[in-house]
Amino acid sequence: ASTLGAAAAEKGRYFGTAVAANRLGESAYATVLNREFNSVTPENEMKWDAVEASRGNFTYGSADQIVDHAVNRGMKVRGHTLVWHSQLPGWVSSLSSATEVRSVMNNHITQVMTHFRGKIHSWDVVNEAFEDGSSGARRNSVFQQRLGNGYIEEAFRTARSVDPGSRLCYNDYNIDDWSHAKTQAVYNMVRDFRSRGVPIDCVGLQSHFNSQSPVPGNYQTTISSFAALGVDVQITELDIEGSGTSQANSYRTVVNACLAVSRCTGITVWGITDKYSWRASGTPLLFDGNYNKKPAYDAVLAALGGT
Ligand code: G3I
Repeated sequence: ASTLGAAAAEKGRYFGTAVAANRLGESAYATVLNREFNSVTPENEMKWDAVEASRGNFTYGSADQIVDHAVNRGMKVRGHTLVWHSQLPGWVSSLSSATEVRSVMNNHITQVMTHFRGKIHSWDVVNEAFEDGSSGARRNSVFQQRLGNGYIEEAFRTARSVDPGSRLCYNDYNIDDWSHAKTQAVYNMVRDFRSRGVPIDCVGLQSHFNSQSPVPGNYQTTISSFAALGVDVQITELDIEGSGTSQANSYRTVVNACLAVSRCTGITVWGITDKYSWRASGTPLLFDGNYNKKPAYDAVLAALGGT
């Protein structure tokens, strides 16, 4: 196979990218997207501020654009994301009663998942609910404040009831290193959910790496440990700061770690070209600003068994 998607497919995996709706009209962008990737994640278009900016008014224009593009070409879609403290409209964060937060959260999940039902392979039901650092605590979002620890479980139960056909993921960053308190906290939550029958199917390791937080030596241990709980692991937002051979080596390590664990079912990079990366001045992706393949691209393709 000579593309990322086709090579991954031969290994029983998908290879995806984050996509921005307003770039689809750029022909080089669409050409590389369509040629290389067989899964997409809307980078911002399904977030709460994009789909329910005002209470009860749902708008899906940009998200539909991406989903239609993908579905028409046989690509999978990852839904990102239903319950998150960021890119959350002010009207949600200022709700003061538990009853209101509960009904708004469940309505949001219900409306959005119903709209896209049948088209989404996996949903990031809850995103980034844990604090960084050594506490292992839940992040102090409006959901946490008003509903307590139980909101995550409630979100997953609601999600399962709305769309039993899509895989339900918990997604976070800085849970790549098995020795980190945050990783252990998420692991303990997933283990608890599995033991009590709370519906969760997958864990998303965002995997945003840079020189301060490089690919950890125990990355494969993290993947296999989550997988041993009976959930899939997806690498959901991969990008690695750097360039040249060292960046290529890091990408290879990530791909090999995923391929070594059968329940690691797919990899998504967080963008196609360095010029549109969220890391403003960085070069963390597989294609440079002119859509040339970087050494990192060659390393990923080779690790996937392609040529
Ligand atoms: O669309 C508006 C535009 O109208 C406005 O003029 C402009 C001025 O700032 O902002 C535009 O919105 C920006 C949006 O990206 C679209 O480009 C927001 O300011 C900006 O904050 C937003 O950044 C996104 C970020 O999430 C927000 O948290 C990045 O694109 C996106 O890559 C990033 O993705 C997150 C994942 O969802 C979760 N994990 C971490 C990851 C990286 O931060």
